[in-house]
Amino acid sequence: MANTLKIRTFEEYQEKYQQSIENPEKFWGEIAEEFQWMKKWERVLDWNFDEPKLEWFKGAKLNITENALDRHLETRGNKLALIWEPNDPKERFVRYTYRELHDKVCQLANALKEMGVKKGDRVCIYLPMIPELAISLLACARIGAIHSVIFAGFSSSSIMDRVNDAQAKMVITADGLYRGAKQIPLKRVVDEALENCPSVEKVIVYNRLNWEPNMVAGRDFKWEEVVDYQSKSCPAEPMDAEDPLYILYTSGSTGKPKGVVHTCGGYMVGTAYTFLNVFQYEESDVYWCTADIGWVTGHSYIVYGPLLTGATTVMFEGIPTYPDPGRFWQIIDKYGVNQFLTAPTAIRSLMAHGENHVLAYSLDSLKVIGSVGEPINDEAWKWYHLHVGKERCAVVDNWWQTETGAVMISGLGNISPMKPTYAGYPLPGVQPVLLNQEGQEIQESDVEGYLCMKAPWPSMLRTTWGDHERCKNTYFSNYKGYYFSGDGAKRDKNGMYRIIGRVDDVINVSGHRFGTAEIENAINTNDNVVESAVVGYPHPVKGQSIYAFVICESEIEDEALMRGAIIESVAREIGRIAIPEKIQFVSGLPKTRSGKIMRRILRKIAEDEIASIGDTSTLLDPQIVDELIAGKL
Ligand code: WT7
Repeated sequence: MANTLKIRTFEEYQEKYQQSIENPEKFWGEIAEEFQWMKKWERVLDWNFDEPKLEWFKGAKLNITENALDRHLETRGNKLALIWEPNDPKERFVRYTYRELHDKVCQLANALKEMGVKKGDRVCIYLPMIPELAISLLACARIGAIHSVIFAGFSSSSIMDRVNDAQAKMVITADGLYRGAKQIPLKRVVDEALENCPSVEKVIVYNRLNWEPNMVAGRDFKWEEVVDYQSKSCPAEPMDAEDPLYILYTSGSTGKPKGVVHTCGGYMVGTAYTFLNVFQYEESDVYWCTADIGWVTGHSYIVYGPLLTGATTVMFEGIPTYPDPGRFWQIIDKYGVNQFLTAPTAIRSLMAHGENHVLAYSLDSLKVIGSVGEPINDEAWKWYHLHVGKERCAVVDNWWQTETGAVMISGLGNISPMKPTYAGYPLPGVQPVLLNQEGQEIQESDVEGYLCMKAPWPSMLRTTWGDHERCKNTYFSNYKGYYFSGDGAKRDKNGMYRIIGRVDDVINVSGHRFGTAEIENAINTNDNVVESAVVGYPHPVKGQSIYAFVICESEIEDEALMRGAIIESVAREIGRIAIPEKIQFVSGLPKTRSGKIMRRILRKIAEDEIASIGDTSTLLDPQIVDELIAGKL
């Protein structure tokens, strides 16, 4: 992508921002010109937030992989596209040039075609952080199949829900994965899910652990047997700009995760433009994002954004503390990483291990260090800036969401002002507002409000899979004429934004997003459980942790046993990543006379903010609050 798209000074940012607001169609149209289209658009933007109707580059034809791979072959064919660092530092790393990555993607794309996958079919991907994961996304995109990646920490029951919702035709998985010192099965989990997934016809299984997993004849195929002999060229399927590129399931305030749908054209333009500018990527830089491709950060900022920009992107299979808490810093020195992006939870966990692990490495190559996924507290920001960035690197705090597809509010490398705990200014084309309870725009500074958007941006979600009404109700109905993010935020007198956190029933644990209702449903699958209520509370490393108040049917004889059973049910229904840290058994919950649980009170108890519980007189049974406080864990 041409460097003409790069903003180089703060003044230039201000100018560009102004232009993007005054004439969004002209602004994004010019950016889109830098990409390769098979057919040009008839119109840059057509929208309303009522239906909502969100169309970018309508009428245009493209294939995102042609832009992420083929387009670079002439000038960057021998440039490294992907560097893969394994879980075990003693295992050999893998490097693919743009040419090699192109070939790998085409081979898998050909295999998918041969196995009956067609444009518009859904392919579910449940893989470890290995190169084949990135290759799988791109191979689907190559032939116009819609990928739906499921993070490899989710349970078989979660896979089943997602596969069935999307009616996926194929699953790509592996025997298992390495995670630090552990080996975790994947194929077994998939097998269990597929007992109840009639839409799945075929499964491709990659061999990562040499486990020789169970293979169902006629359904399951070994990766090497269906992929390795394929041709290294595969024509890129012409896609409408508004054809779906992928589905990614995310949690909200209802019990069932929804499939956020991103489309080809706008997502391409949005992820590439933000990648280039947020990280101020230069042609010879090495960029590394530690996220998992199972989440949106990995989709947009390990795979699509960097590759669309012709960047060298690093992918890491392991965890920050294996074999020791210096692992991140060792990898940065090993590859000379210039831009590094991680989550506050990782920073806080490494902080807790002491700075000696960081001080052992030079980290000289770093220019920009990023934080993403949850609010970063002052202490973690400063530690990151001092010990990792050596007070020399720009810290960029990227605010965005699965639904926004690309970064919305953030610093731009070293060109914009930094302020600890503030994400900063909106990117060009992004029009945030803060709304009060009544839905009016707040003009003052240093006041908290609901963070909303008053205009569309190219990479935004278009719908929720199979249920457009749900998309409308979740994001476009709370405040008419606005997209509602679910976050609370504050704006200072200079216009910089600070994200406070979710204002809905969504909990962010170590950057992983869960709905309270989803966890309650899982807990309630226990025969002995009558009712439960789940809230988040602040946790020094995870950001937030999960607190469950549970009413059981009969007297509990062994609390530890019952806790274990509840934990198992959450692990089974969602995955171990969602298990509650605290489970308090109670005889009742604070409810209004109409039967609504007063979560505010539960949150205050879980947060240890007993003094600010406030008025409880409207409760059906105010005494229950005393019981809850007395039994607090
Ligand atoms: C929610 C979105 C960003 C993509 C990965 C997570 C929180 C995200 C920040 C940030 C404060 C943040 C918000 C948001 N969040 N980034 N820089 N500062 N909060 O995507 O799983 O869709 O979660 O994560 O609460 O709504 P996600």
